[in-house]
Amino acid sequence: MSKKVKFIVFKYDPLSEEKPHYVSYMQEVDRREMVLDVLERIRKNIDPTLAYRHSCHHGVCGSCVALVNGVEKLLCKTRVFNVIGRSNKVVIEPMRNFKVIRDLVVDLEPFFTKLRIITPALIQSQVSQDRETPQSPQNVEAMKQYEECIECGACYSACPIVASDPLYLGPAALMVAYRTCLDERDEGKMERLRLVDSEEGCWRCHNNMGCTEVCPKNVDPASAISGLRRMILSRRLVLWRGRFG
Ligand code: SF4
Ligand code: SF4
Ligand code: FES
Repeated sequence: MSKKVKFIVFKYDPLSEEKPHYVSYMQEVDRREMVLDVLERIRKNIDPTLAYRHSCHHGVCGSCVALVNGVEKLLCKTRVFNVIGRSNKVVIEPMRNFKVIRDLVVDLEPFFTKLRIITPALIQSQVSQDRETPQSPQNVEAMKQYEECIECGACYSACPIVASDPLYLGPAALMVAYRTCLDERDEGKMERLRLVDSEEGCWRCHNNMGCTEVCPKNVDPASAISGLRRMILSRRLVLWRGRFG
C-alpha cells in the first residue's frame, strides 16, 4: 500500500541571499518507509543540496533528530504513515534551541559543551582505578534507563527553559550528572552536586516533562532532575545535622 504525501521541508543556506523558507515535495510513499527514507529520495532525485544529518539509520547514533509536524523525532525511526494523520502532510524543520547551520543541520556544540561541564566520566582516585570496584545489581538497575541516552539533543530542543535561558544546563546534561552521581564507583558526587546546585542547574527546571515526552529512547530526564534535587537536599540535611543536630 502506498499514498501520495506532501513533504514541506525547511530550507536555509546562510551563504545564499535567500531568506529561510519552506519547499514542498509530493512523494509516493510506501507504508513501511521512514521519514529519513523519503528525505534520502528527495536528495537523490530532486534536490541534491538538501542538508540533514544521518548515520546509522537504526536509532543508535542520535544524529538525525528534526521536528516532524512540530515534534522532535528520530527521522530514521519515524514511519511516515504514523505521522501524516488525515492531512497527508509532513512538515520537517530543524530542532529548536539550536542555531541552524543549514536546512535541517544544527550546531550541537552548546549541547555537548554542557555535557562536558558536568564531568560525565567517573571521577576516581588512582587507588580506586587500580582495583576492581564492583557495582551492586540494584545500582546497575537504578542507572539502566539513563544509560540508554544517545545524546541526540531532542530533549534540549523541547525544553522551554533552554529556549528562554541559554545558560541553563538542560535536561540531557542534568540527567547524565544524576546518572554519574548514582554510580557507586564514582568519587566525584559532591563536586558534581555543587555544580548543578545552582541557578542554571537543577533548580531552574519547571518540571513540565517536555524532555521526557520527546525522548526517543524512553529516558526520563525530568525524573533525573528531581533525583538530583533529592540528593542535594539530603546532603544539606546531613550538613545541617552535623552543625546543629
Ligand atoms: S535524554 Fe533522550 S532526548 Fe535527551 S539526548 Fe538523551 S536520548 Fe536524546
Ligand atoms: S522537565 Fe525541566 S528540563 Fe525537562 S523540558 Fe521541562 S523544564 Fe526542561
Ligand atoms: S540515523 Fe542514527 S539515529 Fe537516526
